[in-house]
Amino acid sequence: MCGIVGYNGSKKAVDILLDGLSRLEYRGYDSAGVAVRDKDKEIQIFKAKGKLENLREKLEGEKLKGTCGIGHTRWATHGEPSETNAHPHVSNDGNVTLVHNGIIENYQELTAKLGRHDYTLYSETDTEVLTNIIDYYYKKYKMGPIDAINRTMVRVRGSYAIAVMFRDYPDEIWVARKDSPMIIGENEDGYYVASDVPAILKYTNKVYYIDNLEAACLKKDKVIFYDLNGDEIKKELKEIKWDVSAAEKEGYEHFMIKEINEQPDVIKKTINSFVREDYIDLSNTGLSDEEIKNFKQIYIVACGSAYHVGVCAQYVLEDLTRIPVRVEIASEFRYRKPILDKDGLVIVISQSGETADSLAALREAKNQGVKTLGIINVVGSSIAREADHVLYTLAGPEIAVATTKAFSTQLIAAYVLAIQMGYVKGKINETVYQELIEEIKTLPEKVQYELDHLTNKIQKLSSKFSHIKDAFYIGRGLDYAISLEGSLKLKEVSYIHSEAYAAGELKHGTISLIEDGTLVIGIATQEEIFEKTISNLVEVKSRGAYVVTVTSEDMDVSKVSNFTLNVPKTLKYFYPSLTVVPLQLIGYYITVSRGLDVDKPRNLAKSVTVE
Ligand code: M6R
Repeated sequence: MCGIVGYNGSKKAVDILLDGLSRLEYRGYDSAGVAVRDKDKEIQIFKAKGKLENLREKLEGEKLKGTCGIGHTRWATHGEPSETNAHPHVSNDGNVTLVHNGIIENYQELTAKLGRHDYTLYSETDTEVLTNIIDYYYKKYKMGPIDAINRTMVRVRGSYAIAVMFRDYPDEIWVARKDSPMIIGENEDGYYVASDVPAILKYTNKVYYIDNLEAACLKKDKVIFYDLNGDEIKKELKEIKWDVSAAEKEGYEHFMIKEINEQPDVIKKTINSFVREDYIDLSNTGLSDEEIKNFKQIYIVACGSAYHVGVCAQYVLEDLTRIPVRVEIASEFRYRKPILDKDGLVIVISQSGETADSLAALREAKNQGVKTLGIINVVGSSIAREADHVLYTLAGPEIAVATTKAFSTQLIAAYVLAIQMGYVKGKINETVYQELIEEIKTLPEKVQYELDHLTNKIQKLSSKFSHIKDAFYIGRGLDYAISLEGSLKLKEVSYIHSEAYAAGELKHGTISLIEDGTLVIGIATQEEIFEKTISNLVEVKSRGAYVVTVTSEDMDVSKVSNFTLNVPKTLKYFYPSLTVVPLQLIGYYITVSRGLDVDKPRNLAKSVTVE
């Protein structure tokens, strides 16, 4: 999705803008632009289609000395990727210059309004419409930037984070937001604005969060916040605990492999944030034992990989708490008019905390008066702020579009929640509780063992299968849940078609696709259903499939497996944390063998803030 960076201070703005935009590249974009101004001079705008490199080339030789500016990477929604459609956009007479993330839903109606007032448009974007609407209110009421911005916020429908420069206010950047992320950073050199933390983390970890329908004015030496009435409001400066180096590649070829290798560390940090010596402490989340005892139904809602965590969590939560659990894709949940149990708990899982459909699902639950809990990585994100309770994952900044370390920490959060709920509800006794706590603590070193012992093997396997057209991932129970994630990891970065199937379901149609050499990755760790999964693997092997089996080190798959990846032994609930690692490595190394851009797969964005 689009990215915004802005700076107003004592340093050269263009360098900070380009650096910040380069750190947002992972979000996906197809054009970029900057607007910079020097005191009392005109705003200078540069835009380019394609990579940021194209913009850098255009800026070569330009003496942009200004210390106030805004920048943008655009992921096309309204209008094709082109230099004309790229941001910043400018109002008809150059009075307003603006960058925007999000979508303006009533842009057609607003375009007609502008037409009636003799405005003309040069691009196909909803952003240019927004720019001119601000200009229209600015000139009509002549009450300055905050009045024009607030009138615009009341008039437009949709989601937006905007950074605006007014010709009459040379030393100011104005920002506002609704349902699209934006933070303001502060250090001794000045003020920063960004749609995402990594863009400015190198410069500061001190940030302000602006809420929906709030605005702010960034001057060189202060920032002033406003509500929708135009009244000044106070905001607390918060510290982001993320380590700057976590957003750098640090010698790794790609962020994806760096983040895969960070898993032992972030899993450990996440465990340590909840697990004390011999008990789980959820007090930080504000979730009381009383509330836990009252829940009669759990709904888990999420998108993509976070949904796959939900599928894993469904098995574990139901088993340990004996509360019925329903897991749903957020974009389906929000529009199916769900009938929610008032004594239920809606769990929303999201790395970014900004996924539009997940946020809408959370709001639907809240509208129905049902308690909500977020499992979230980004502190201060919309879902984190709106959920009744939050379990934070400590994955740190995740840059690769394909999630790996955030997924693994979400699993941990789901496990601790399930164990604690099961214990509080009296569904597991002290012995089982202690056994689960002891075992969860061993996961970081087991994941490290896998990274040390499986990487080379998977590299070799991957070069052999880099040319394939299709792959199938099959398993039962928790092994099926992790098949979903393995399959997505392969397809989203390698562009190889792959499908995940409940192993027992193959015979009902899909097995007809199996032919000589088809790659089938079978996950078989669950003892109670192990023999059944093996039978399904035999069925595909006898039809010519090449069977790769991911299984526990104490299980024998020799009669069916062409290639075996053993993971360390653990308790049945925790196998997803171990089986996902070889699957992530397969996705990564097959993509590298195909010579593709692993960190920025085509058509994808890191956080999907539009529906
Ligand atoms: O930020 P979120 O966890 O809400 O994002 C959900 C999905 O968009 C995300 O998991 C996506 O499926 C990734 N590309 C998977 O690698």
